[in-house]
Amino acid sequence: MPRIEDLLQNNRAWRDQTERDRPGFFQNLASQQEPRFLWIGCADSRVPANQIIGLDPGMVFVHRNVANLVVHSDLNCLAVLDYAVNVLRIQDIIVCGHYGCGGVTAALQPGSGRIVDHWIRHVRDIAKFYRSEVEAEPTAAAQIRRLCELNVAVQVVHVRESPVLQAAAERNVRVHGWIYDVADGLLRDLTPTVDALRAIEPACRIAPPDAAGR
Ligand code: CO
Repeated sequence: MPRIEDLLQNNRAWRDQTERDRPGFFQNLASQQEPRFLWIGCADSRVPANQIIGLDPGMVFVHRNVANLVVHSDLNCLAVLDYAVNVLRIQDIIVCGHYGCGGVTAALQPGSGRIVDHWIRHVRDIAKFYRSEVEAEPTAAAQIRRLCELNVAVQVVHVRESPVLQAAAERNVRVHGWIYDVADGLLRDLTPTVDALRAIEPACRIAPPDAAGR
């Protein structure tokens, strides 16, 4: 296991190597930030955004929290979303969950009484809402996997329906739902799951601005 002192040495070695390979790399980055993608992912150490999609520093704007949640009142996530869409003018948002997610697994187990339970409660609500879909899976492991997928789909809907995205509707920002398998290192596109969910629950839609009388 590396020690804390090793990290600073690692950084120096990485920086020197990068500068040797691509002279001026950091100087160029210092003058501008123009990422093409927003990544909303889990805080899990096994799902490092840039690394698994092969992108250098400067190419992806990242927000991570336990279980990759987009909570309607989470000012942290909403600020990232607003900045990404309205300042950085990002056109593609990726919500990425992962199999083996501790936050999702915890939502199918009794609570611990800790602070994190309040956060996980959002996933419990999804488990409750889609109980029949989750319980249709034959094993506990398959149920967790299904809830990981449903969780991504719900968070994609939350992004699409957020006031930030609705206010920017004319720009057609795309919101993708992906899931990463920590056991094989591969990403999978869950868009069909998201679209199926929309059919199940159209009531989550927020009225368009004119219908709401604004
Ligand atoms: Co996780």
